[in-house]
Amino acid sequence: MDALIAGVTIVELDPEDTSVGYGGLPNADGVVQLDASCMHGPRKRAGAVAALEGVRNPSLVAQKVMDQTDHHLLVGPGAQVFARNMGFTIEDDLNTDRSRRTWLEWKRRTTPLLYLDPDRRELAMRRLEREMITEGLIEENHFYGTINCNGVNARGEICGVTTTSGLAWKIPGRVGDSPILGAGLYVDGEIGAAGSTGRGEASLYSLCSFLIVEEMRRGKHPKDAGLEALRRIQAATIEQRLLNERGTPNFNINFYILNRRGEYAGVAMYSPDGRQQFAVCDEKGPRLEVSTPLLEGSA
Ligand code: GLY
Repeated sequence: MDALIAGVTIVELDPEDTSVGYGGLPNADGVVQLDASCMHGPRKRAGAVAALEGVRNPSLVAQKVMDQTDHHLLVGPGAQVFARNMGFTIEDDLNTDRSRRTWLEWKRRTTPLLYLDPDRRELAMRRLEREMITEGLIEENHFYGTINCNGVNARGEICGVTTTSGLAWKIPGRVGDSPILGAGLYVDGEIGAAGSTGRGEASLYSLCSFLIVEEMRRGKHPKDAGLEALRRIQAATIEQRLLNERGTPNFNINFYILNRRGEYAGVAMYSPDGRQQFAVCDEKGPRLEVSTPLLEGSA
């Protein structure tokens, strides 16, 4: 658990990374609100924080919730008070120049759209999100950017952590899948671990990480268990605003899956030209591998 959290805190602290922690893309009010969770297989314990402001390393606070309390999830101001009491530095603002400038640009582009009716506004927002991605202002994977990191040791002991700044420009207070046990992360020490990145609402709706671990319990390989969750998401995606012209989901979502024997998989709704990748480190060293897509093409 310590090793996994040490891994993700590197990215949480990186001012150039806009998907998690310090410098993560803020909510619609320009405030960075962070979510994180961790689960410890052998100890059967978990901790999480949601909508936490002012602390660069939400994953470390989630670990404190796991280690120091009887609770699983602390949110908002309560999570911040807890972090302060645990000795974390509370900062006024976790924006970097880069995340603030990107938010200002979004604000500038969206303000004239605020008076449209909700359906048109939704479409307009999605159009301009695509525009900002195409113009290179936001990296596509950083819109819902998140890290999930799972690990197993030689004794088959398995842990996981997920950390995120959540959906860029979210409604203040929005909590995604990352801190919700069973959605953005689930670990069963006897079976394995699964976690997600991408559109959190989709993973939340079907509690996909839990579903994947349960599919592995029934004997599925990590890849087949992950593809089953993606099929569940596709079946649950029926609203027009979430479908592309081919009638398939117009968002991406990824799962990272590891069982206690060390078998693993990365799966994605789409992986155009093998672009959805995940990092693996084992006895052969660290490397990137391509996620297995459920569907051809892109979102
Ligand atoms: N998967 C991250 C989020 O939706 O917040």
